[in-house]
Amino acid sequence: MKVLLFGGAGYIGTHVSLAFLDRKDTVGIFDNLSSGLRSNVDSRCLFFEGDILDKERVREVLSQGWDAVIHLAAFKAAGESMIKPFKYSENNITGSLNLITECVKAGIKNFILSSSAAVYGEPAYLPVDEDHPKHPTNYYGYTKLCIEENLRWYSELKDFNYVSLRYFNAAGYDNDGRMLGLEKNPANLIPVVMEVAAGIRPNLLVFGNDYDTADGTGVRDYVHVTDLAQGHVMAADYVMKNQENLVVNLGSEYGLSVQQIIDSAREITGKTIEVQYVERRPGDPAKLVASSQKAREVLGWKAEHSSVDSIIASTWKVYEANSVKAGSLQ
Ligand code: UD1
Repeated sequence: MKVLLFGGAGYIGTHVSLAFLDRKDTVGIFDNLSSGLRSNVDSRCLFFEGDILDKERVREVLSQGWDAVIHLAAFKAAGESMIKPFKYSENNITGSLNLITECVKAGIKNFILSSSAAVYGEPAYLPVDEDHPKHPTNYYGYTKLCIEENLRWYSELKDFNYVSLRYFNAAGYDNDGRMLGLEKNPANLIPVVMEVAAGIRPNLLVFGNDYDTADGTGVRDYVHVTDLAQGHVMAADYVMKNQENLVVNLGSEYGLSVQQIIDSAREITGKTIEVQYVERRPGDPAKLVASSQKAREVLGWKAEHSSVDSIIASTWKVYEANSVKAGSLQ
């Protein structure tokens, strides 16, 4: 298979590229390097620098003939999207519409979207399945929902099919240490915890310890990025074989609290990890856990690497290596 990954030099995209390369597929990476890193791109990949807002560049690269396109080129900080909505509408919505339109025009029929559990908003019930109402509580989540809705329309109107993968909390690093690039200015819990352990930032702010959960901190479904990557391979095979649309959750189906993450990180890193408990972050639900039954049944997908220890240990290996090199680790 010949697959083109938009946003393929980022954290998730790099892992997805490794999963396809492991099967000897031909992988192209299209990235503007705004948050992705050139050094993440495996030498076996074809690399195209470009922006999804640049229609001509997108057209030029698509014209090289691809079996499937995977779209991971998006901003993803839920909090930031509430302060800078234009940044999110321009890149995530306008950029995605450019991309989908150009794929249809180029005759590319198989499209995989990197979507998010953020499309659901505050859970009305748990675990959250794909039929759960969609009322995003942040603008980022709305951008993903908007792209999904356009994909549905395009597939009705044109000869075009898609799979939308609704990730829960992506975490962890390639267990074989093939990906060493750190995210720039991370806002997600686990990279922030790692930066504290590595001496890059002084402490972790825990956003609320008065939630209605066992220890009072927020509970999320952390899914290993290698499991997510495998989901993309299965999604590409599915859409090419069946020529029909699919929307599925990818989550571990297991809830972990912020406190459980801190405890595991302290044990695995051997570091103190200073913590300060502060106010809740607006828009954060208390608890979010996936049902991945559909992904299991339809794709045969399973979260195999998503234990807390595997997630924390694989991430720490990368942060430790980078920090020793940069001299921040004592
Ligand atoms: C959000 C989105 C998710 C998206 C992800 C991408 C929602 C409901 N979820 O996940 O779909 O894929 O962003 O970035 O919109 N926390 C702290 N201190 C920190 C950082 C986080 O206590 O410095 C806590 C949060 O309050 C939360 C948990 O850690 O309880 C996880 O937060 P985070 O990693 O930011 O992800 P989500 O907000 O769950």
